[in-house]
Formats: sequence, structure tokens, C-alpha cells
Amino acid sequence: MSATWPTTPSVLSPMPTPDLLSRNRLERVRLADLTTMRIGGPADLLWLEDRRDLPEVIEQPHRWLGKGANLLVGDDGVPGLVVKLGAAFDTMETVGVVGGVTTVRVGAAFDLAKLIGATVKAGLAGPEGLAGVPATVGGALRMNAGTNTTWILDHATRVEVVLPGTTTPRWIERADLPAAYRTCGLPSGVLFLSCEMALPSEDPAVLQATATRLKQAKAATQPLAQPSAGCVFKNPRPDLPAGKLIDELGLKGTRIGGAEISTIHGNFIINPGRSAFAGDVAALVRLIRTKAWKERGVEVNMEIETWACPADLHVHPKELV
Ligand code: EPU
Repeated sequence: MSATWPTTPSVLSPMPTPDLLSRNRLERVRLADLTTMRIGGPADLLWLEDRRDLPEVIEQPHRWLGKGANLLVGDDGVPGLVVKLGAAFDTMETVGVVGGVTTVRVGAAFDLAKLIGATVKAGLAGPEGLAGVPATVGGALRMNAGTNTTWILDHATRVEVVLPGTTTPRWIERADLPAAYRTCGLPSGVLFLSCEMALPSEDPAVLQATATRLKQAKAATQPLAQPSAGCVFKNPRPDLPAGKLIDELGLKGTRIGGAEISTIHGNFIINPGRSAFAGDVAALVRLIRTKAWKERGVEVNMEIETWACPADLHVHPKELV
């Protein structure tokens, strides 16, 4: 059985202007095909190719989609526009070299794995520490993605964003971002367009060895062969990883519908048969949050973003018990 896909018509309001449609491609998609969790109903997807159209897009109901690697989407899909940055934002260039440090400018649509491949080859240190993190550069910046040793914003010197409530891009210095674990520090709804990174030189063989080691470590401890959105929850404390907590609560392997708490890593909910509904994942999320609160007094909060999912996934767990 596959997840439902209602054939609801597009509900765009207002309709994009002919100018916008002449410069950017609009298509009807199933978000399950554009998310690594392989869950999600229909949407109107706009490939944004032209910066001139940012104001029109921003002024109507919209959501920004990166690689869909950290996202749970409801089975009925989402209204409004889902916008992906197109080829014009899929760029990487060197903008200067000072004292052995190279500054690169990377567009938000650039794939993080491609950035790591390019910087390793060029002997530029920093991004290799993110090896194995599935993301576009923009998505990674937005959630300050990383591992337990480094975050992407450790390497950025400035970022180009459109802040909520505005339609014009602006650059913000990294020092002015109140970034922290899994947050860029900017309000939700911010759009990242590009960033600059200052990267010192290093032997490419050393960088490659680090990237390979990190990817092997992930492959050994995470269910990478199954559809998932990566770690579902933020670690409640540095000394209390959510995966370990869920493991100790005896929840690994619990299955609801087509969704399962991975037996390999407790902080992953997988969709092994690609048949899970968003509601199955939501039920597992509630179970984990309720049990962690009742039995350990710990509030575990979601790391992954949710679109058109029940609001109770984000309330304090005491309201769920
Ligand atoms: N652990 C268990 N049981 C489990 C899972 C983990 O006991 O089922 C234990 C491990 O043995 C280890 C500790 O918990 O002692 C921490 O586990 P791990 O090293 O896997 O790190 P993590 O904190 O669970 C974080 C990031 C991952 C990132 C890894 C590796 C978060 C929420 N997760 O995981 O990021 O890949 O470090 O750097 O910060 C993601 O964000 O999507 C993600 C997967």
C-alpha cells in the first residue's frame, strides 16, 4: 500500500504573473519525491531562476525547499508555492586569497556534498568536517547543520539572506548571527541565498581521509540505506544524546504503520517500505516525547521541520501525557 496522494487541485492564490512564469518553471509535484523521508502530498513547485522575481514570490504564501533532507510533510500536501532555488543559485566561485586563506562564495542551491568534494580537491579545509550530511548549502545554513564536532556556520564569514518581512537580499556578517546548535539564529522563514567561507589550505589527502572517516562512521552507526530525515530530535543536552535516550527507553524497533524507530540509531525514524504516512511518523514522535517526559522528565524537541503536520508535535510534552 502506498501513502495517499489526494488529487486536490492547485490552490495558488494569487496566481503567479505571466512574467514570473516566463522566467521560472512551475510544476505540480508530489513532495514524497522531493524529500529523503519519501513522505508528503502534492504541491505547486516553482524553480526560482531569477532574482528579479524574489519579491513576487515572497509576497505570496510560500515555503523554501532545499534537499528535503530534514523535513516531514503531511500527506495532504501544502497550499501555496513550494520554491526551490534553481541553477542561478547553484554556483561556487573563489572571491579572494589572503595570507593562505581562500574565500569562496557558494550559492544556496549548491549541494553540500559537491562543496565538500570541490574544497577537498582544492586543498581547502573546513567543509570536509560535514561529510555525509545530506543538504543543500542553503538548507544547511538555515539549520546550522553539522555533526557533533562542527557546524556549517563555523566556516562562514558572511551570509546573504532575505529576512522575513522583507523582499531584498542583504549580507550579514557571521559575527552578527546568534547561531547555536542546530540554529542559524535568524527567524524562521529566512531565506539563505549564498554565503562566503574563509578556508585555510591543507593537504587534500588529509582532508579526504577526514571526509572518508566521517562517512564511514556515519554508515556504521546510522540507517543510511533506509528513507529517513536524519536525526528527528535535537539532543536535549550534550551529555544526553536523543538516540541514546530513545535506546534506553526501549523504543528502538517500535513500528507504527509503515514507520519504524530504527534499530540501528534511536534518533532515526525510517520509512523502510516507503509506505509510511506522515501520521505514522507523528505517532512515533508523540510516543517518544511522551515517554521521555514521563519516565525521565526530559523534553525532547524536534530537529526536523514539519509542513502541514499536527501542531501538537511541537507543544511541550507535558501537554501530551
Ligand atoms: N547512542 C546509543 N543508542 C543509539 C544511538 C546512539 O546509545 O541508538 C549513543 C552512541 O553510542 C553515542 C551517543 O549516543 O555514545 C551519541 O550518538 P552519535 O555519536 O550517533 O551522535 P548523535 O548525538 O546521536 C549527532 C548528530 C548527527 C550526526 C552525529 C555524528 C544530532 C541530533 N545528531 O548524533 O546528526 O550525524 O552526531 O556527528 O545532533 C542529523 O542532524 O540529522 C544527524 C544525523
